[in-house]
Amino acid sequence: MDIKALPKVELHLHLDCSLSYNVVNAIDPTITEAQYQEEFIAPAKCHNLADFLTRAPKGIELMQTPEQLKLVVRDLFKQLAADHVLYAELRFAPLQHLEKGLTPEEVVHYTEAATAQAVRETGIEARLILCTLRHYTEAQSMETVRLVEQFKDTHVTGFDIAADEAGFPIAAHVNAFEYARQHGLFCTAHAGEAKGPSSVWETLAYFGPSRIGHGVRSIEDPQLVAHLKKHQIHLEVCPTCNVQIDLYDTYAQHPVDKLYRAGVALNLNTDARTIVNVSLSEEYQKMQQTFGWDIADFYATNRQALLAAFIPNQLKQDLLFQLQKRYHALAPQQIPAQ
Ligand code: HPA
Ligand code: ZN
Repeated sequence: MDIKALPKVELHLHLDCSLSYNVVNAIDPTITEAQYQEEFIAPAKCHNLADFLTRAPKGIELMQTPEQLKLVVRDLFKQLAADHVLYAELRFAPLQHLEKGLTPEEVVHYTEAATAQAVRETGIEARLILCTLRHYTEAQSMETVRLVEQFKDTHVTGFDIAADEAGFPIAAHVNAFEYARQHGLFCTAHAGEAKGPSSVWETLAYFGPSRIGHGVRSIEDPQLVAHLKKHQIHLEVCPTCNVQIDLYDTYAQHPVDKLYRAGVALNLNTDARTIVNVSLSEEYQKMQQTFGWDIADFYATNRQALLAAFIPNQLKQDLLFQLQKRYHALAPQQIPAQ
């Protein structure tokens, strides 16, 4: 199986944590490759999520003008093309890009315009998710969710909460998710990564997302696993990232395969291509090597990703059709024709 050539759907991908050395060098030629390795990429083992996240500001610093935002979006689309990504959702926190005087609205406008152009040029379908951050105030969370509403007829499609789950409670963000619900906005939320099942229960109860970013510690509570299945809550799983933040010692100990076999809807993602230092194809390779996933498993999880994607139904049907056609062409014995 040529893993690289498999069509892929990536739902959990931080734009600001996924700069290749090429684009870093184009934006700031004084940054050497050694510095990039040292400062932008986290070691294969971090102490925890907070330690991992200390690398994120390096990329964000380089994404403060319209031109820089455009370069970073184009760079990420090149990486998506190399992984044969069919559809991607890219996320970032607009309020982190105001250091050179852009307004939050301008940040979203320029990033959205760059995304629209990259979609046209590459043929890779994509949408943007705007993130609030755990340490933000209620006002910052509300400002972010209002941007999702304001841009909802563009490539901006949903709302997320990221950053340090273990360090900051949910209280400041409940109203923002309530606003999202009232306005019919798609939502996902990071949970069940740095904290256990109680964090996933709390997130489901107070934020009401249709997907969970990570959510892998749900495996520790069989009732939660049953709940995720019953309500078709999709998990955006990023195994290498979880091993890196030392949630699991090794890839083999990661519960992704158990969750999948238990019937939880999930798909594979990189989370942060630079900090994690992984491509989506490499992530798939590890799944094949560690858990013996074959083309039918990759097809099934990509199909689940599209079913959970934050897109209108007609586009979803078109992408599901393309996915099946392309997997069938690669493995006619295993993947049925339409
Ligand atoms: N968790 C929370 N916030 C993040 C992550 C993550 O894994 N990656 C980038 N921001
Ligand atoms: Zn993430």
